[in-house]
Amino acid sequence: MGIPATRGLKLGFCGKGGVGKTTLASLVVRHLAAAGKDVVAIDADPVPNLQAALGFPMDVVPRPVADLKELIEERTGAKKGGWGTFFRMNPTVADLPERLGLSRDNIRLLVMGTVDKGGSGCVCPESIVLKALVRHLLLAPDQVVVMDMEAGVEHLGRGSSAALDRLVAVVDPGQRSHVAARRIRALAADIGLAAPAVVLNNVRDPEDVARVRDSLHDFELLGHLPFDPTVARADRDGAMPYAELSLAPAALAEIVRQLVSASRPAPAPT
Ligand SMILES: Nc1ncnc2c1ncn2[C@@H]1O[C@H](COP(=O)(O)OP(=O)(O)OP(=O)(O)O)[C@@H](O)[C@H]1O
Ligand SMILES: [Mg+2]
Repeated sequence: MGIPATRGLKLGFCGKGGVGKTTLASLVVRHLAAAGKDVVAIDADPVPNLQAALGFPMDVVPRPVADLKELIEERTGAKKGGWGTFFRMNPTVADLPERLGLSRDNIRLLVMGTVDKGGSGCVCPESIVLKALVRHLLLAPDQVVVMDMEAGVEHLGRGSSAALDRLVAVVDPGQRSHVAARRIRALAADIGLAAPAVVLNNVRDPEDVARVRDSLHDFELLGHLPFDPTVARADRDGAMPYAELSLAPAALAEIVRQLVSASRPAPAPT
């Protein structure tokens, strides 16, 4: 498996709560890093836990970017004690991945945090900085970026969404995760993104795969991963799941191969 050296790859993982987004994103990050790629892993979940899933030591836990009030004030010019009315919409962010990220084994982890209210329509200094940062990373042509997202796609404005090679909706055998995949597809379409591809996680029974193929017949299914008690145990014990996912290396490699084949030259920055 290999991505051409001059090509980046931009992936986003989303899906219903608890389906395995973080697990799958971390496995893909580690797989790409082990293949020699420098990967930026973005934890864009309001409750960040990609750090643990990636096996980074937990003695240093970075503050999420959204919580760095002083930095946000400095970059946007927003005033202290109430954000004031005016702030820069195009803050400088190029230095932030290096400054704020944690690094290990070809992986740079960035924890974005969350903006309290407002959702996708929020125009506040925090969301301006987060969006600018995501956009900066997604538009870097040679960069490999993997985003662990929540159910929605709010971190992706229209400007940066075009740079995403693949949105992946993780589902499990449960119907509610399929409803979530459909909702994600609708949200993605709203911002001009292609339909997500699907990865089925937590398969306990071969019939699960047939049922999901049927239920999500109008989605592209990239592959499926078994329920593996060692993965759940690794999370419980705070250990890294990668080495433990002994049942599925071939399935994972095939999923990564398909994701890598989505790689294409990034659009020119606007
Ligand atoms: N294939 C698997 N086999 C066994 N356990 C798994 C598997 N995938 C995920 N898990 C476990 O299920 C739990 C939820 O997984 P994970 O945190 O990856 O889901 P998530 O979608 O990111 O959740 P959240 O919505 O809370 O962010 C974790 O304890 C994880 O270790
Ligand atoms: Mg998660």
